[in-house]
Amino acid sequence: MKKLVFFASGSGSNFQSVINAIENNKITASISGLITDNPGSGAIERAKKHNIPVAVIPFSPKSHFSIQIEQKLAEWKPDLIVLAGYLKKIPDSVIESFKNRIINIHPSLLPKYGGKGFYGQHVHRAVIEAGDTVSGCTVHFVNGEYDRGSIIKQIEVPVKPDDTPESLGKRILIEEHKLLPNVIKQLIK
Ligand code: GRF
Repeated sequence: MKKLVFFASGSGSNFQSVINAIENNKITASISGLITDNPGSGAIERAKKHNIPVAVIPFSPKSHFSIQIEQKLAEWKPDLIVLAGYLKKIPDSVIESFKNRIINIHPSLLPKYGGKGFYGQHVHRAVIEAGDTVSGCTVHFVNGEYDRGSIIKQIEVPVKPDDTPESLGKRILIEEHKLLPNVIKQLIK
């Protein structure tokens, strides 16, 4: 069975969408562990509820941080690494050793509204301010540049005239919860 490792910093709802897909037999895989930089991440509770091991690795001077992540990955040996709302940059050494085996979910139609500073509500605010009528979400492979690896799949979501960053973000998140399990299913086949 293919092994997944998740990285998350936030509430972990995307992480939960994959836990659910596995429990409902929509994906055949196991989750070997969760890595987070944030001791307050909601993803930790979600992992514990499902007996998924957790490593809290706060950001520290580069080498130490990288080494701790490398050690966990050496222990957990994932076939696929999933970044689900992880806000730190993945060390280059990890990107090098897991080429085309790291994916990320982003709440816009990349290449639009990606890169440094485009996360959470900042993305949706920029979409609304630009007057775009369509936004969405993207799953892509991770390379050394923020949000710039090749795109695997996207879902479009209309922007409504009265949308706020919050309302748009909520509608996109619902689609993220479908997109991420679907892409994982496709990749581990
Ligand atoms: C999602 O919008 C995802 O696209 C982005 O960070 C957010 C994480 O949300 N990368 P959650 O923690 O999965 O609820």
